[in-house]
Amino acid sequence: MKGIILAGGTGSRLWPMTISVSKQLLPVYDKPLIYYPLSTLMLAGVKDILIITAPEDEKKFRTLLGDGSQLGISISYTIQVKPEGIAQAFLLGEEFIGNESVALILGDNLFHGAGLTGLLQEGLGQFGARIFLHEVSNPGDYGVLNVDRDGNPTSIEEKPTNPISNLAVTGLYFFDYHVSDYAKLIKPGKRGELEITDLLQIYLEKKSLLSSRLPRGTTWLDTGTPASLHDASSYVRIIEERTDQKIACVEEISARNGWIQPEKLFDIASKYGKSKYGNYLTRVAKEIEDLAE
Ligand code: G1P
Repeated sequence: MKGIILAGGTGSRLWPMTISVSKQLLPVYDKPLIYYPLSTLMLAGVKDILIITAPEDEKKFRTLLGDGSQLGISISYTIQVKPEGIAQAFLLGEEFIGNESVALILGDNLFHGAGLTGLLQEGLGQFGARIFLHEVSNPGDYGVLNVDRDGNPTSIEEKPTNPISNLAVTGLYFFDYHVSDYAKLIKPGKRGELEITDLLQIYLEKKSLLSSRLPRGTTWLDTGTPASLHDASSYVRIIEERTDQKIACVEEISARNGWIQPEKLFDIASKYGKSKYGNYLTRVAKEIEDLAE
């Protein structure tokens, strides 16, 4: 299974914060936003990842994450010249996807909670497409899944004015290898973009769209506005300080998955110097070493 993080876009709803910095590089409390979607893919077990960025940002992402070897994974990059829709990711990523299935995650979505890893791993590599739903109070801001009385999906609507359900389609999607071919069939929608909703509608019509509701106790946040970005930071800070554990610490995830050795973690920690993040990595590396003894 391959993974794509869509980290393009202008982040115009966050201007002036995003005039000179990509939205996905802005901090969410103690780490760049992109660490969160990256950690979700890694927790699902995905190790081969393509990051799609705006042309002017590619270099900065490379500086941050390199080729992924530091995390025991592979990261490659491609650029999206203009933000022409989420579904464009499958045209830009066609060669990368090849004949495999692929998970797409939006670079500004943050998932957290026990039970998430198991749920993601169950959905990997299946035929068709899978979406993950979360009940929200503002469904009109998202793609919304309409279901019949038996709970079977009937349609997906992008930002409906009168939403029939409160089940928002979150920014994490699993697709089979047909996805790039189907993406070629869709036309730009009302906002001039290739809508992910139209792509999902194709899978729905072919009766190959599956959905999973994120269980209670799972948090899904997006970070598209100053308020939601601030909320995400507060959320991460509260949980991390209370539990003394980090959310979306990608180096920790790699080490706990056995993709890098504790020595590597000590190495990275020393590069991070006196930062709290570095101290945390040292603590985790010691913990993993102790467990191995
Ligand atoms: C996009 C999708 C929408 C989805 C949302 C999740 O919205 O078009 O279907 O529910 O991401 O974050 P956008 O961020 O483009 O407004």
